[in-house]
Amino acid sequence: MNFNEEYEKRLTEIESILTRYLPEKEGYQKIIMEAMEYSLMAGGKRLRPMLMLESFRLFGGRTACIEPFMAALEMIHTYSLVHDDLPAMDNDDYRRGRKTTHVVYGEDMGILAGDALLNYAFETACKAFDLEPENSLRIGRALKILAEKAGIYGMIGGQVVDVRESGHRISGDLLEFIYRLKTSALIESAVMTGAVLAGAADEEIRRMEEIAGKIGLAFQIQDDILDVTGTEELLGKPVHSDEKNEKTTYVSWKGLEGSRREAARLTDEAIADLRALGRDSAYLEALFRWLVYRDK
Ligand code: IPE
Ligand code: IPE
Ligand code: MG
Ligand code: MG
Ligand code: MG
Repeated sequence: MNFNEEYEKRLTEIESILTRYLPEKEGYQKIIMEAMEYSLMAGGKRLRPMLMLESFRLFGGRTACIEPFMAALEMIHTYSLVHDDLPAMDNDDYRRGRKTTHVVYGEDMGILAGDALLNYAFETACKAFDLEPENSLRIGRALKILAEKAGIYGMIGGQVVDVRESGHRISGDLLEFIYRLKTSALIESAVMTGAVLAGAADEEIRRMEEIAGKIGLAFQIQDDILDVTGTEELLGKPVHSDEKNEKTTYVSWKGLEGSRREAARLTDEAIADLRALGRDSAYLEALFRWLVYRDK
C-alpha cells in the first residue's frame, strides 16, 4: 500500500464533506459563519474524521450517515483548538498555518466562533436522522458518545486540569489523566461513533475505545515532542508553546528519548490489539504508524 496516496485520497474526501456541511455565510451574523469557515477549512490532518470513517468501514459501514458525524467531530476538535489558542489559555497566535481565529476576528468573535462550531457540530450530527431515519437508534447512541467524549469527563475535563496545572510540576499519573481526557477522548469518540453507526457489537466498540485510548496518548506525546523538536513551518503552529506556558509535558517528565519510546510502545500495543480484531485494518495500522513518526 502507498500510504501517502491512500491518505491524500481520504483527505480530499473529508475536505469535500466538511465543505458541504458548513453553514451558508448569510444574515446579520454572517461574520460568525466566516470565522467558522476560516478555522475549520484551514487544513489540519483531519485525523479524527479519518479514524471515524476507517472504523465505520472496518465494521462494514457503507452509508452516508457517517458523513454528518465526521463533519461534527472535526467541528468539535476545531472549536477546541480555537479556544485552546485564546489569550486566556495557551495564548498562541498561529494555527494550521495561519493567524489564529481570535487574532483575525478579535477575541469576542474567537470565543463565539468556538461556541458556534461546538453547537453547529450537534446540529450537523443530527442531520443523520434525516438521512437514515431507520437507523435512529444507532444515531442516538453515536450522539451520546459524541457529547460525552467532548465534555467534562472528556476533552473539556482534560483542558480544565491542563490549564489549572500550568506552571506546576505534576505527577506522571496526573499528566496521563490530562492526556487521556484532553486528547484521547475525541480520538475514542471517532472510532466508537464509527463502530456504533456501522452496527459493531458492544465488545468490539469497547476494544476500539481501548485502542484509541492508547493512540490518543501516543499522539499527545508526539505533539509534545514536536513542540520541542518541530518547526513552525511544518507544524503550522508555534513551537515551544509548552515551555512558554510552563506546562509539565511528557518530554519534561521523561525526556525526548523516553517519550519516543513510550509513544512507540503504545502504538505497537494498539496495532497488536487492532490485528486481534481479525478485520482488514491495513490502512488503520499504517495511519497509527505514521502518527508516531509524523513531523506535523
Ligand atoms: C492538535 O491536534 C491538538 C492535540 C490534541 C495535540 P491535531 O494535531 O490533530 O491538529 P490538526 O487538526 O492537525 O490541526
Ligand atoms: C490541546 O493540547 C488539546 C486540545 C484539546 C485542544 P495542546 O495545547 O498541546 O495542543 P496544541 O499543541 O496547541 O495543538
Ligand atoms: Mg493547550
Ligand atoms: Mg495549545
Ligand atoms: Mg501541544
